[in-house]
Amino acid sequence: MTLESIDKKFYHGLNIGEKLGEGQFGTTWSAIRHDSAPAEKIKKTRDTSETDDNDLKRLVVKESKGSIDFNEYRVVLGLKPHKNILSLLGLAVVNGKYCLVSELCEYGSLDKLHQKINMTESKTFADIAVGICRGLDHIHNTLEILHKDIACRNVLMRLDGSVVLSDFGMSRQIQADQTYYSISEGNVIPWAWSGPEVVLEGRFTFASDIYSLGVTFWEILSKGNAPCFEGKKLNEFKTLAAICSVIHKVANGSITAKFPSTIPKSTASFVRSCLHPKPERRPSVANLLQSALKIKTIANGSGTQITLTDSFLGNDRV
Ligand SMILES: Nc1ncnc2c1ncn2[C@@H]1O[C@H](COP(=O)(O)OP(=O)(O)OP(=O)(O)O)[C@@H](O)[C@H]1O
Ligand SMILES: [Mg+2]
Repeated sequence: MTLESIDKKFYHGLNIGEKLGEGQFGTTWSAIRHDSAPAEKIKKTRDTSETDDNDLKRLVVKESKGSIDFNEYRVVLGLKPHKNILSLLGLAVVNGKYCLVSELCEYGSLDKLHQKINMTESKTFADIAVGICRGLDHIHNTLEILHKDIACRNVLMRLDGSVVLSDFGMSRQIQADQTYYSISEGNVIPWAWSGPEVVLEGRFTFASDIYSLGVTFWEILSKGNAPCFEGKKLNEFKTLAAICSVIHKVANGSITAKFPSTIPKSTASFVRSCLHPKPERRPSVANLLQSALKIKTIANGSGTQITLTDSFLGNDRV
């Protein structure tokens, strides 16, 4: 993508609305667009036919906490779009700072949706799982990048119920807090969503994204519970030593995820496969998508019962 094409993606005259939230990387607001549209429209940018031009009026702007990296913006704005990936539309200047402009997902992030939607219901879970897997399949196999921050807070739902992955390619310029922990200088990670090899060795791979995906599925099936270890909440782990000590137990299999008794065994084993302590034993996202599609078929009441665990072995994408 050239500098001219990034210029065409500048939004002028946005009306900034409510603050949607503040994360590790910056602050997010809703915004309403007036007539001065960028040349490139969402219809072209997003791989979908359902969107009409009205959707373009309501957008989201995200101000980055760290310093602005134009090259990074140029790269993310040039990525091939997909219907399960948040549409990144362009840039705007808000309060004198460059902000990334994206589509607004009306239902917001899954971590805040449990009061409104029962996402543990088999069909709903299957639809969400298929959508997330399709998005991650695009990130891993088409874009060939890692997400590095998969969690319910970064899965958004549109008005039509479809889900998108947001905030991929995690920045390093962030502050540590109870969710993000600095494992070494300049390397801050959401430790409870990260595979043991990430926390203990700083090793990010396609398989470490799969582990985070497993934690995300667990969050959904647990109706929005945050991960906890040996009955302790994340904010009770104050030091790197305390985190490493508990993660060693995850790595040797003495701490494993627990699921509510109402969750079907096949669904629990689908999620457990992602949470395998050994990265090489986790499924690739392509395998996982096939399993999610089988779960969806079963949830829709057709097809025969399938042993999901059979297809989980033999992943070579680590
Ligand atoms: N495109 C969007 N459409 C609708 N709501 C959004 C959108 N992007 C973000 N939000 C909402 O804004 C909140 C803040 O998002 P933000 O990405 O800044 O932080 P976060 O996701 O909580 O943490 P992280 O730093 O891990 O991304 C989210 O919780 C989500 O509910
Ligand atoms: Mg986010």
